[in-house]
Amino acid sequence: MNEHPPRSWTRHAAWAAPCALALLVFLALHSEGLSIEQAPDPAGAVFAADDQLSQSDADTITFSRDIAPILQENCQLCHQPGAIAPMSFMTYDEVRPWGPIIQREVVRRNMPPYHYDTDVGIQELQHDRRLSDEDIETIVRWVRAGMPEGDPADLPEPVEWPDPAEWRLAEEFGPPDHVIPSDPYTVPARGQDIWWQPMVESGITENRCIRAIEVKPSLAGRAATHHANSTFHVQNEDGEWVRSARLTEYALGKLGEVVPEDACRIAPADSRVVWDIHYYPSGDMIEDDVVEIGLWFHPDEVADQLEYDQTLTLYYLDAGDPNLRDYYIPPHETLMTQGMYSFDHPVRIDSFQPHGHLRLTAKKLEIYHPDTGERELVSQVSNWNPGWHLSHMYEPHAAPLMPAGSIMIITAWYDNTAANPWNPDPDQWVGPGDRTTDEMSHAWIAITHLDEEGFETLVAEREERERQFTEASDDQ
Ligand code: HEC
Repeated sequence: MNEHPPRSWTRHAAWAAPCALALLVFLALHSEGLSIEQAPDPAGAVFAADDQLSQSDADTITFSRDIAPILQENCQLCHQPGAIAPMSFMTYDEVRPWGPIIQREVVRRNMPPYHYDTDVGIQELQHDRRLSDEDIETIVRWVRAGMPEGDPADLPEPVEWPDPAEWRLAEEFGPPDHVIPSDPYTVPARGQDIWWQPMVESGITENRCIRAIEVKPSLAGRAATHHANSTFHVQNEDGEWVRSARLTEYALGKLGEVVPEDACRIAPADSRVVWDIHYYPSGDMIEDDVVEIGLWFHPDEVADQLEYDQTLTLYYLDAGDPNLRDYYIPPHETLMTQGMYSFDHPVRIDSFQPHGHLRLTAKKLEIYHPDTGERELVSQVSNWNPGWHLSHMYEPHAAPLMPAGSIMIITAWYDNTAANPWNPDPDQWVGPGDRTTDEMSHAWIAITHLDEEGFETLVAEREERERQFTEASDDQ
């Protein structure tokens, strides 16, 4: 076995802390009056349907030929018997009664579940589930034309669906190299939030670099498993188990995390994993529930070549101080919070996952470049949905690069009025906390920590890519 070079994780704790520069810029933004921002209009996420769609579509757009392929490719993974959606969209008879609701959900971009604005920020994303504008338009036209079935001979070939109990990343990476189960816990049918925090052996015997991670709640426990966070712990010289690195984070609806090919997310040898599983009783008792983490590793010969570490960190949104989680949303009011971070070395942002509960309505990530004064909008979610927690993973060539000293700005908007359909009680003050009815203000962000050389190499690769792309389009 090739010894992987030991990696230090303590330094990341320092990196994640904001530097003084960030706070200075925070003040500067205030004085320019930029700190109170209007929440983005969720209508910006909605597909604008053309009012001129005509009745003649009845002859041309049919379920069998046009709609079934869209559903097969984008919906049936979840909308089939035994999968996570409550209704099946496998046949014309199953789909037809839902036609108008399907139209509404795809136009609002609520379904497929992937809440991410289409008109601003980086659009090159891995595992992006959003429908194309053309597909949405086809569905709208079909519903308006009276949902004709057409000729069943036009139906697409049936596909073989993966077992819903299987690892979803297995399709891309094969079966996991290593699985870490939680200790079993019996979730009662009814009651308050529960946090189950067992410490288990990781079973990892040598340092490895993680390529992909998936957290898999049991089929029975899926509805009750709200979050499942996990951290690696290692033993210090005194034999105490101390936290070394974040392993991963799971929240309802999340697929998993893929680490870029050129970065190492460390899985330390002889470690333990501390779970923090947040159950919320779902009406059914689940006996001996077990949540599993599947890990896929870089092969050792690849890991040996990896120069840069990737970390997954929870960034709070409050004026840059990770310990300052001090915000309250008054009854019947809205609130905006903003947090800033900078790094003393160049970094690449690999993924962005907003996190919030029932009052969060929108979140965005920006980069501020103090040297040019430019503010770059990276990602915006203006139709946040607390039922779906999605890690938006940038395509490697599009992942934003931050020179040392530039600043990450995370902005969140909350709505504690009755106009927010998720709000259980607009008469309450809402502050930060762990319960589903408290609020949370952070984003999970995966960062590859570069040095100047690595940064310049990536910039040069992108310029070269751009040049080839321009040449190719000039040739046409
Ligand atoms: C990743 C799984 C997944 C995919 C993919 C998916 N859905 Fe869903 N869908 C669900 C779940 C789960 C629900 C139940 C409500 C919820 O949790 O948001 C749902 C609910 C719905 C509803 C009911 C909404 C309501 O208000 O009752 C419609 C309509 C729908 N989906 C349409 C679609 C269509 C059309 C597609 C594909 C273009 C699609 N879904 C893709 C998981 C999925």
